[in-house]
Amino acid sequence: MNYRHAYHAGNHADVLKHIVMMRAFAQLKKKDKPFLFLDAHAGIGLYALWGDEALKTLEWQDGVGRFYDPSGMPVPLSSDCEQLLASWRMAIAAVNASGQPLSHYPGSPGFALANLRPADRILLNELHPEDHGRLSDFAARDGRVKITEGEAASAIKAHLPPPERRGFVLIDPPYELEDEARRAVQMLRDGYRRFATGAFALWYPVTGDRLSEHIVAEAKALDLAKMLKIELCVREAVREGGLAGSGLILVNPPWPLADELAVLGPALRDRLKQNDGASWSLDWLTAPG
Ligand SMILES: C[S@@+](CC[C@H](N)C(=O)[O-])C[C@H]1O[C@@H](n2cnc3c(N)ncnc32)[C@H](O)[C@@H]1O
Repeated sequence: MNYRHAYHAGNHADVLKHIVMMRAFAQLKKKDKPFLFLDAHAGIGLYALWGDEALKTLEWQDGVGRFYDPSGMPVPLSSDCEQLLASWRMAIAAVNASGQPLSHYPGSPGFALANLRPADRILLNELHPEDHGRLSDFAARDGRVKITEGEAASAIKAHLPPPERRGFVLIDPPYELEDEARRAVQMLRDGYRRFATGAFALWYPVTGDRLSEHIVAEAKALDLAKMLKIELCVREAVREGGLAGSGLILVNPPWPLADELAVLGPALRDRLKQNDGASWSLDWLTAPG
């Protein structure tokens, strides 16, 4: 297992994924009843943007770096969009010194810690022993959090359905192993079988080969109720051209997340675009219900 998220934290794909997550949390929080956030591939929770790994790629500069000026002040989108981004920006502000250049970017656990309520539960799973240790240092003291070290597929099987019967499950593998795409779609299937009323997000990369099309086709073939696909490319996807974009397959996206993403998507594409091949799409794979 070679993948370390520290090289990629805060890139365009993280920006999209975490904004979607924060909007899903906002909808779930409209009801008082607590819910579970299950992060099956959690990473370490918080990333140093000037750390050795991030400095090697500087991917964050074309991601979250496009939303802040060099002194750390937000560079706003339209006011409609900024309203929808407020909780994402608040979580970033919580791990950065005010009036200073950005120094840190939260991972999905960091965004959850900043945003969920005292009665919500946060279950974080990570396979890499060193990253699991760093995740524990970051989050274990929080009373809402439980951390497990192991296979994402086992965490999904062990913890769904949650007693709350409300929840958001993030499936966010690195796709570095040959059968990881198949296993990711299987996790979505297994999670849904146990918890058909839950909200799920399956992240996938767009890299100019057939991987993203394959994942989308396999997920669509599951024919689960209310499957929404969103995809944001920052440039044209060409073979061997690296990560041109990313997508999320959302199952049971809490209303009105799809409408919010229809507003945000084009603005994110314009902010993150690297050339004229940038694109945004939002499609229901199965009927919205
Ligand atoms: C894309 S990163 C996660 C990023 C994180 N969700 C975020 O948004 O901040 C994928 C993580 O999954 C871990 N991982 C890889 N294979 C795994 C598996 N089979 N089960 C659980 N975690 C795994 C990696 O060590 C890595 O930290």
